[in-house]
Amino acid sequence: MSAQALLSVRGLSINYGHVNAVRGIDLDLAAGEITALVGANGAGKTTTLMALSGLVKKAAGAVHFDGQDISAMAPHRIVASGLVQVAEGRATLTTLTVRENLDLGAYTRRDGATARARDVDRIYSLFPRLAERATQMAGSLSGGEQQMLAIGRALMAKPRLLLLDEPSMGLAPLIVQDIFRTLKRINAEGLTIFLVEQNVKQALKLAHRAYVVESGEVVLQGRGAELLGDPRVQAAYLGH
Ligand SMILES: Nc1ncnc2c1ncn2[C@@H]1O[C@H](COP(=O)(O)OP(=O)(O)OP(=O)(O)O)[C@@H](O)[C@H]1O
Ligand SMILES: [Mg+2]
Repeated sequence: MSAQALLSVRGLSINYGHVNAVRGIDLDLAAGEITALVGANGAGKTTTLMALSGLVKKAAGAVHFDGQDISAMAPHRIVASGLVQVAEGRATLTTLTVRENLDLGAYTRRDGATARARDVDRIYSLFPRLAERATQMAGSLSGGEQQMLAIGRALMAKPRLLLLDEPSMGLAPLIVQDIFRTLKRINAEGLTIFLVEQNVKQALKLAHRAYVVESGEVVLQGRGAELLGDPRVQAAYLGH
């Protein structure tokens, strides 16, 4: 494990029956940085995230978070340790209000109502649209607002590492920009982020470092800006 990595993954492999979805992936996520994982449909991105959260069985490999071996830890304990994944498909609880969804995000916390209320206010300042809709049912939010709520709810768990699976999916470019700008701000305030994206261009622009995966293997890695200018990335993912 490298010295300053908040999360390090070694030799991660995952099989679904005879499908080798992830084949010996190594990752190092530096504390304080945004790391992106990009690749085509079926490359193994979601599977990798699920493995970090303890939600799929690993065929091989080790995951260390802040020096602790979390390879065999139960999902709820992984969340409580500070590794928090934004709900997939922005699955908010549709018949609860925005505020109730945010409060649910804090379920693993042991600190008091005052601290939680302060964090709700912080999330409202990050996402003013959520503040305006605090008492609205989550199910009646737009797609972009639901993504904001899913991120806000994850932040309520006080993550030290935030995992996101394609937050841009299905959203209009302006909303994507808005969400990516907010991720940049949250990161600037100190949160380490691991971002899985098919929107390769935006993800590489945002990320300090990135990994490109194909068929369950890392095929390229480097600084985000560097990969953005890499002819192989441009040919395969940016239509150049
Ligand atoms: N529950 C499952 N059972 C069987 N195979 C699965 C299952 N989940 C994923 N796979 C297979 O594992 C491979 C990796 O899938 P994964 O969802 O991790 O890809 P992805 O990179 O997230 O793709 P996308 O960009 O489309 O979300 C694919 O071949 C997929 O069909
Ligand atoms: Mg996926």
